[in-house]
Amino acid sequence: MTNHFDQIIVGGGVMGASTAYELSKRGNQVLLLEENTIAAEASSAAAGMLGVQMEFEQDSSLFQFAKESRELFPKLAKELLQDSGIDIQLIEKGALKLVYHQDDIDALKRIATFQTQQGAEAKVISPVTIVEKELATDFHAALYCPTEGQVSAPHLTKAFAKAAEHHGAVIMEQTRVQDIIIEKGKVTGVKTDGKTYSADRVIMTCGFKSSHFSRYVKQLTPVKGECLSVVTEKPLIQSTIFTEGCYLVPKGGNRIIIGATSMPNQTNKDVKVASVLHLLSRAKQILPALNQATIEKTWAGVRPLTKDGLPYLGEVPDVSGLYVATGHYRNGILLAPRTSTFLADIVEGKQVNQTYLDAFSLKRESLISV
Ligand code: GLY
Repeated sequence: MTNHFDQIIVGGGVMGASTAYELSKRGNQVLLLEENTIAAEASSAAAGMLGVQMEFEQDSSLFQFAKESRELFPKLAKELLQDSGIDIQLIEKGALKLVYHQDDIDALKRIATFQTQQGAEAKVISPVTIVEKELATDFHAALYCPTEGQVSAPHLTKAFAKAAEHHGAVIMEQTRVQDIIIEKGKVTGVKTDGKTYSADRVIMTCGFKSSHFSRYVKQLTPVKGECLSVVTEKPLIQSTIFTEGCYLVPKGGNRIIIGATSMPNQTNKDVKVASVLHLLSRAKQILPALNQATIEKTWAGVRPLTKDGLPYLGEVPDVSGLYVATGHYRNGILLAPRTSTFLADIVEGKQVNQTYLDAFSLKRESLISV
Protein backbone atom coordinates (compact mmCIF):
# COMPACT_ATOMS: atom_id res chain seq x y z
CA MET A 1 0.00 0.00 0.00
CA THR A 2 1.22 3.50 -0.82
CA ASN A 3 2.06 5.76 2.11
CA HIS A 4 1.06 8.89 0.22
CA PHE A 5 -2.53 10.14 -0.04
CA ASP A 6 -4.33 13.23 -1.30
CA GLN A 7 -5.95 13.65 2.11
CA ILE A 8 -5.59 11.97 5.50
CA ILE A 9 -8.60 12.11 7.80
CA VAL A 10 -8.05 11.60 11.52
CA GLY A 11 -11.16 10.23 13.25
CA GLY A 12 -13.79 7.76 12.03
CA GLY A 13 -16.98 9.27 13.39
CA VAL A 14 -19.71 10.66 11.18
CA MET A 15 -17.65 13.74 10.20
CA GLY A 16 -14.60 11.69 9.21
CA ALA A 17 -16.60 9.00 7.42
CA SER A 18 -18.80 11.46 5.52
CA THR A 19 -15.79 13.55 4.47
CA ALA A 20 -13.94 10.40 3.37
CA TYR A 21 -17.00 9.47 1.31
CA GLU A 22 -17.33 12.88 -0.33
CA LEU A 23 -13.64 13.23 -1.15
CA SER A 24 -13.22 9.67 -2.44
CA LYS A 25 -16.40 10.00 -4.52
CA ARG A 26 -14.76 13.01 -6.17
CA GLY A 27 -11.75 10.87 -7.12
CA ASN A 28 -9.33 11.71 -4.30
CA GLN A 29 -7.04 9.11 -2.69
CA VAL A 30 -8.17 9.23 0.94
CA LEU A 31 -6.78 7.58 4.08
CA LEU A 32 -9.01 7.56 7.16
CA LEU A 33 -7.33 6.65 10.47
CA GLU A 34 -9.46 5.72 13.47
CA GLU A 35 -7.97 4.87 16.87
CA ASN A 36 -10.87 2.57 17.75
CA THR A 37 -13.53 1.40 15.30
CA ILE A 38 -15.78 3.35 12.92
CA ALA A 39 -18.59 5.09 14.83
CA ALA A 40 -17.17 4.13 18.23
CA GLU A 41 -18.01 7.43 19.93
CA ALA A 42 -20.76 10.07 19.66
CA SER A 43 -21.81 8.94 16.17
CA SER A 44 -23.17 5.71 17.60
CA ALA A 45 -24.59 7.29 20.73
CA ALA A 46 -26.74 9.79 18.82
CA ALA A 47 -30.46 9.18 18.48
CA GLY A 48 -30.26 10.30 14.84
CA MET A 49 -32.78 13.15 14.88
CA LEU A 50 -32.59 15.47 11.87
CA GLY A 51 -34.06 18.24 13.99
CA VAL A 52 -34.05 21.31 11.78
CA GLN A 53 -37.44 22.31 13.14
CA MET A 54 -37.02 20.97 16.68
CA GLU A 55 -33.51 22.26 17.42
CA PHE A 56 -33.56 25.71 15.75
CA GLU A 57 -35.79 28.58 16.80
CA GLN A 58 -34.38 31.44 14.75
CA ASP A 59 -32.40 32.20 11.66
CA SER A 60 -28.62 31.87 11.73
CA SER A 61 -25.78 30.62 9.55
CA LEU A 62 -25.97 27.31 11.37
CA PHE A 63 -29.72 27.02 10.77
CA GLN A 64 -29.29 27.61 7.01
CA PHE A 65 -26.40 25.15 6.94
CA ALA A 66 -28.53 22.59 8.83
CA LYS A 67 -31.42 23.13 6.44
CA GLU A 68 -29.18 22.49 3.45
CA SER A 69 -27.80 19.40 5.15
CA ARG A 70 -31.29 18.07 5.89
CA GLU A 71 -32.24 18.45 2.23
CA LEU A 72 -29.38 16.15 1.22
CA PHE A 73 -30.69 13.14 3.19
CA PRO A 74 -33.29 11.59 0.86
CA LYS A 75 -30.87 11.39 -2.09
CA LEU A 76 -28.01 10.41 0.20
CA ALA A 77 -30.02 7.51 1.66
CA LYS A 78 -30.39 6.05 -1.85
CA GLU A 79 -26.74 6.69 -2.80
CA LEU A 80 -25.43 5.14 0.40
CA LEU A 81 -27.63 2.09 0.00
CA GLN A 82 -26.25 1.65 -3.49
CA ASP A 83 -22.59 2.27 -2.57
CA SER A 84 -22.49 0.50 0.79
CA GLY A 85 -25.48 -1.86 0.93
CA ILE A 86 -26.44 -0.21 4.25
CA ASP A 87 -29.90 1.29 4.81
CA ILE A 88 -29.50 4.42 6.95
CA GLN A 89 -33.15 3.99 8.04
CA LEU A 90 -34.37 7.43 7.08
CA ILE A 91 -37.81 7.91 8.62
CA GLU A 92 -39.80 11.04 7.79
CA LYS A 93 -42.77 10.77 10.08
CA GLY A 94 -42.55 14.15 11.77
CA ALA A 95 -41.86 15.47 15.23
CA LEU A 96 -43.75 17.09 18.07
CA LYS A 97 -42.38 19.53 20.61
CA LEU A 98 -44.55 19.50 23.72
CA VAL A 99 -44.84 22.37 26.20
CA TYR A 100 -46.37 22.11 29.64
CA HIS A 101 -46.90 25.77 30.53
CA GLN A 102 -49.27 28.34 29.08
CA ASP A 103 -46.36 30.82 29.04
CA ASP A 104 -44.47 28.67 26.50
CA ILE A 105 -47.19 28.75 23.85
CA ASP A 106 -46.15 32.13 22.46
CA ALA A 107 -42.62 30.80 21.96
CA LEU A 108 -44.02 27.80 20.06
CA LYS A 109 -46.09 30.13 17.87
CA ARG A 110 -42.97 32.18 17.09
CA ILE A 111 -41.08 29.03 16.08
CA ALA A 112 -44.00 27.88 13.92
CA THR A 113 -44.07 31.27 12.15
CA PHE A 114 -40.31 31.25 11.65
CA GLN A 115 -40.26 27.66 10.35
CA THR A 116 -43.19 28.31 8.02
CA GLN A 117 -41.38 31.39 6.62
CA GLN A 118 -38.42 29.09 6.00
CA GLY A 119 -40.58 26.78 3.92
CA ALA A 120 -41.20 24.05 6.51
CA GLU A 121 -44.56 22.71 7.57
CA ALA A 122 -45.03 23.73 11.20
CA LYS A 123 -48.10 24.45 13.28
CA VAL A 124 -49.10 24.71 16.92
CA ILE A 125 -51.71 22.16 17.91
CA SER A 126 -53.62 21.41 21.09
CA PRO A 127 -53.72 18.06 22.94
CA VAL A 128 -57.19 17.30 21.53
CA THR A 129 -55.98 17.45 17.96
CA ILE A 130 -52.87 15.46 18.66
CA VAL A 131 -51.80 13.00 16.00
CA GLU A 132 -50.20 10.57 18.44
CA LYS A 133 -53.03 8.88 20.31
CA GLU A 134 -50.90 7.19 23.03
CA LEU A 135 -49.49 10.47 24.35
CA ALA A 136 -50.68 11.72 27.73
CA THR A 137 -52.68 14.88 27.17
CA ASP A 138 -51.49 16.90 30.14
CA PHE A 139 -49.34 19.20 27.98
CA HIS A 140 -50.62 22.60 26.93
CA ALA A 141 -49.69 22.62 23.25
CA ALA A 142 -47.31 21.13 20.74
CA LEU A 143 -45.36 22.33 17.76
CA TYR A 144 -46.07 19.79 15.04
CA CYS A 145 -43.64 19.47 12.15
CA PRO A 146 -44.87 16.60 9.99
CA THR A 147 -41.82 16.45 7.71
CA GLU A 148 -39.14 16.27 10.42
CA GLY A 149 -37.05 13.13 10.08
CA GLN A 150 -34.49 10.86 11.66
CA VAL A 151 -31.97 8.17 10.73
CA SER A 152 -30.02 5.47 12.51
CA ALA A 153 -26.81 7.27 13.50
CA PRO A 154 -24.56 4.17 13.60
CA HIS A 155 -25.94 2.93 10.27
CA LEU A 156 -25.34 6.35 8.70
CA THR A 157 -21.74 6.50 9.89
CA LYS A 158 -20.94 2.93 8.85
CA ALA A 159 -22.64 3.47 5.50
CA PHE A 160 -20.47 6.54 4.84
CA ALA A 161 -17.33 4.56 5.72
CA LYS A 162 -18.26 1.54 3.60
CA ALA A 163 -19.30 3.73 0.68
CA ALA A 164 -15.98 5.62 0.98
CA GLU A 165 -14.16 2.28 0.70
CA HIS A 166 -16.31 1.49 -2.32
CA HIS A 167 -14.89 4.66 -3.89
CA GLY A 168 -11.32 3.65 -3.05
CA ALA A 169 -10.72 5.21 0.39
CA VAL A 170 -8.41 3.27 2.71
CA ILE A 171 -9.81 2.95 6.22
CA MET A 172 -7.56 1.78 9.05
CA GLU A 173 -9.20 1.09 12.41
CA GLN A 174 -7.27 0.55 15.68
CA THR A 175 -4.69 3.01 14.37
CA ARG A 176 -3.89 5.90 16.64
CA VAL A 177 -2.43 9.09 15.24
CA GLN A 178 0.40 10.21 17.53
CA ASP A 179 1.28 13.41 15.79
CA ILE A 180 0.59 15.65 12.85
CA ILE A 181 3.75 16.45 10.96
CA ILE A 182 4.23 20.11 10.12
CA GLU A 183 7.24 21.48 8.27
CA LYS A 184 7.70 25.23 7.83
CA GLY A 185 4.06 25.95 8.62
CA LYS A 186 2.76 23.33 6.20
CA VAL A 187 1.27 19.95 6.98
CA THR A 188 3.09 17.01 5.40
CA GLY A 189 1.46 13.98 7.01
CA VAL A 190 0.81 12.11 10.25
CA LYS A 191 2.68 9.70 12.50
CA THR A 192 0.96 6.64 13.93
CA ASP A 193 2.41 4.04 16.30
CA GLY A 194 4.97 2.79 13.88
CA LYS A 195 4.38 4.47 10.57
CA THR A 196 4.37 7.78 8.78
CA TYR A 197 1.74 8.60 6.16
CA SER A 198 2.16 11.62 3.95
CA ALA A 199 -0.40 14.01 2.50
CA ASP A 200 -0.58 17.73 1.74
CA ARG A 201 -3.98 17.88 3.40
CA VAL A 202 -4.87 16.51 6.85
CA ILE A 203 -8.39 16.81 8.25
CA MET A 204 -9.08 16.37 11.96
CA THR A 205 -12.54 15.00 12.66
CA CYS A 206 -12.08 13.57 16.16
CA GLY A 207 -15.13 15.06 17.92
CA PHE A 208 -14.32 16.21 21.43
CA LYS A 209 -10.96 14.44 21.15
CA SER A 210 -9.91 17.02 18.55
CA SER A 211 -8.84 19.10 21.54
CA HIS A 212 -6.21 16.42 22.29
CA PHE A 213 -4.36 18.04 19.41
CA SER A 214 -4.56 21.12 21.58
CA ARG A 215 -1.83 22.92 19.74
CA TYR A 216 -4.37 23.32 16.95
CA VAL A 217 -7.88 23.19 18.41
CA LYS A 218 -8.81 24.72 21.70
CA GLN A 219 -11.90 25.52 23.71
CA LEU A 220 -13.95 22.40 23.04
CA THR A 221 -16.16 21.42 25.95
CA PRO A 222 -17.15 17.76 26.15
CA VAL A 223 -20.83 17.37 27.08
CA LYS A 224 -21.75 13.83 28.04
CA GLY A 225 -25.23 12.60 27.14
CA GLU A 226 -26.81 9.43 28.55
CA CYS A 227 -29.56 7.55 26.70
CA LEU A 228 -31.48 4.32 26.93
CA SER A 229 -33.63 2.29 24.60
CA VAL A 230 -36.76 0.31 25.31
CA VAL A 231 -38.76 -2.20 23.29
CA THR A 232 -42.54 -2.22 23.28
CA GLU A 233 -44.99 -4.92 22.17
CA LYS A 234 -46.58 -2.71 19.55
CA PRO A 235 -45.55 0.63 18.05
CA LEU A 236 -46.60 3.43 20.44
CA ILE A 237 -45.52 6.48 18.47
CA GLN A 238 -44.66 7.32 14.88
CA SER A 239 -43.25 10.82 15.34
CA THR A 240 -40.27 11.91 17.39
CA ILE A 241 -41.45 13.49 20.62
CA PHE A 242 -39.41 16.31 21.99
CA THR A 243 -39.75 18.28 25.21
CA GLU A 244 -37.50 20.17 27.61
CA GLY A 245 -34.85 17.69 28.81
CA CYS A 246 -36.23 14.58 27.12
CA TYR A 247 -36.93 13.15 23.67
CA LEU A 248 -38.39 9.89 22.41
CA VAL A 249 -37.26 8.64 19.02
CA PRO A 250 -39.17 5.66 17.59
CA LYS A 251 -37.02 3.20 15.67
CA GLY A 252 -37.72 0.01 13.75
CA GLY A 253 -38.56 -3.17 15.66
CA ASN A 254 -40.71 -1.26 18.18
CA ARG A 255 -37.61 0.28 19.77
CA ILE A 256 -37.74 3.75 21.27
CA ILE A 257 -34.59 5.71 22.12
CA ILE A 258 -35.05 7.90 25.18
CA GLY A 259 -32.55 10.69 25.63
CA ALA A 260 -30.64 12.51 26.81
CA THR A 261 -28.82 14.04 29.73
CA SER A 262 -26.33 16.89 29.36
CA MET A 263 -23.26 16.74 31.59
CA PRO A 264 -20.62 19.34 30.70
CA ASN A 265 -16.96 18.40 31.19
CA GLN A 266 -17.64 14.69 31.55
CA THR A 267 -15.98 12.27 29.16
CA ASN A 268 -16.65 8.95 30.90
CA LYS A 269 -19.28 6.58 29.52
CA ASP A 270 -20.92 5.69 32.85
CA VAL A 271 -24.69 5.72 32.87
CA LYS A 272 -25.95 6.78 36.29
CA VAL A 273 -29.05 5.29 37.93
CA ALA A 274 -30.27 8.82 38.65
CA SER A 275 -30.07 9.71 34.96
CA VAL A 276 -32.00 6.63 33.85
CA LEU A 277 -34.64 7.25 36.54
CA HIS A 278 -34.96 10.87 35.47
CA LEU A 279 -35.25 10.05 31.76
CA LEU A 280 -37.72 7.22 32.39
CA SER A 281 -39.89 9.32 34.63
CA ARG A 282 -40.03 12.12 32.01
CA ALA A 283 -40.66 9.58 29.24
CA LYS A 284 -43.43 7.88 31.20
CA GLN A 285 -45.10 11.21 31.83
CA ILE A 286 -45.16 11.80 28.07
CA LEU A 287 -46.08 8.25 27.04
CA PRO A 288 -47.69 6.33 29.94
CA ALA A 289 -47.77 3.01 28.01
CA LEU A 290 -43.97 2.91 28.36
CA ASN A 291 -44.60 1.40 31.79
CA GLN A 292 -44.94 -1.97 30.06
CA ALA A 293 -41.87 -1.56 27.87
CA THR A 294 -38.74 -3.65 28.29
CA ILE A 295 -35.44 -1.87 28.84
CA GLU A 296 -33.06 -2.85 26.06
CA LYS A 297 -29.83 -1.02 26.90
CA THR A 298 -28.26 2.16 28.18
CA TRP A 299 -25.27 4.08 26.82
CA ALA A 300 -23.50 7.41 26.86
CA GLY A 301 -21.72 9.56 24.29
CA VAL A 302 -19.82 12.83 24.40
CA ARG A 303 -20.87 15.83 22.31
CA PRO A 304 -18.21 18.38 21.31
CA LEU A 305 -19.32 21.93 22.18
CA THR A 306 -17.51 25.09 21.09
CA LYS A 307 -17.52 28.35 23.00
CA ASP A 308 -20.18 29.94 20.77
CA GLY A 309 -22.06 26.76 19.86
CA LEU A 310 -21.02 26.92 16.20
CA PRO A 311 -18.87 24.18 14.71
CA TYR A 312 -15.23 24.63 13.78
CA LEU A 313 -15.02 24.04 10.04
CA GLY A 314 -12.09 25.08 7.98
CA GLU A 315 -8.35 25.48 7.75
CA VAL A 316 -6.27 25.87 10.87
CA PRO A 317 -4.74 29.36 10.84
CA ASP A 318 -0.96 29.37 10.32
CA VAL A 319 -0.82 25.68 9.34
CA SER A 320 -1.33 25.35 5.63
CA GLY A 321 -3.12 22.13 4.67
CA LEU A 322 -4.48 21.32 8.13
CA TYR A 323 -8.29 21.35 8.44
CA VAL A 324 -10.76 20.73 11.24
CA ALA A 325 -14.41 19.64 11.36
CA THR A 326 -15.69 19.34 14.90
CA GLY A 327 -17.87 21.08 17.48
CA HIS A 328 -21.22 20.05 15.99
CA TYR A 329 -22.53 19.53 19.54
CA ARG A 330 -26.11 18.10 19.45
CA ASN A 331 -26.44 18.06 15.67
CA GLY A 332 -23.55 16.07 14.22
CA ILE A 333 -25.76 13.57 12.42
CA LEU A 334 -27.92 16.28 10.87
CA LEU A 335 -24.93 18.42 9.87
CA ALA A 336 -22.64 15.69 8.52
CA PRO A 337 -23.73 15.66 4.85
CA ARG A 338 -23.35 19.43 4.36
CA THR A 339 -20.17 19.49 6.46
CA SER A 340 -18.60 16.94 4.15
CA THR A 341 -19.47 18.80 0.93
CA PHE A 342 -18.39 22.14 2.44
CA LEU A 343 -15.10 20.74 3.70
CA ALA A 344 -14.40 18.84 0.49
CA ASP A 345 -14.88 22.08 -1.45
CA ILE A 346 -12.49 23.94 0.87
CA VAL A 347 -9.89 21.18 0.70
CA GLU A 348 -10.13 21.10 -3.09
CA GLY A 349 -9.74 24.89 -3.27
CA LYS A 350 -13.22 25.49 -4.63
CA GLN A 351 -15.35 28.57 -4.04
CA VAL A 352 -17.50 28.18 -0.92
CA ASN A 353 -20.22 30.22 0.76
CA GLN A 354 -18.36 33.12 2.44
CA THR A 355 -20.96 33.48 5.22
CA TYR A 356 -20.37 29.89 6.34
CA LEU A 357 -16.62 30.25 5.94
CA ASP A 358 -16.61 33.26 8.29
CA ALA A 359 -19.17 31.88 10.76
CA PHE A 360 -17.41 28.54 11.25
CA SER A 361 -13.84 29.76 10.82
CA LEU A 362 -11.26 28.78 13.39
CA LYS A 363 -10.02 32.36 13.20
CA ARG A 364 -13.11 33.65 14.98
CA GLU A 365 -11.39 32.87 18.27
CA SER A 366 -7.74 32.66 19.24
CA LEU A 367 -7.45 28.90 18.94
CA ILE A 368 -3.96 28.38 17.74
CA SER A 369 -0.68 28.36 19.56
CA VAL A 370 1.62 26.23 17.43
N1 GLY B 1 -29.06 15.26 19.31
C1 GLY B 1 -29.60 15.23 20.59
C2 GLY B 1 -28.62 15.10 21.66
O1 GLY B 1 -27.45 15.38 21.50
O2 GLY B 1 -29.01 14.71 22.74
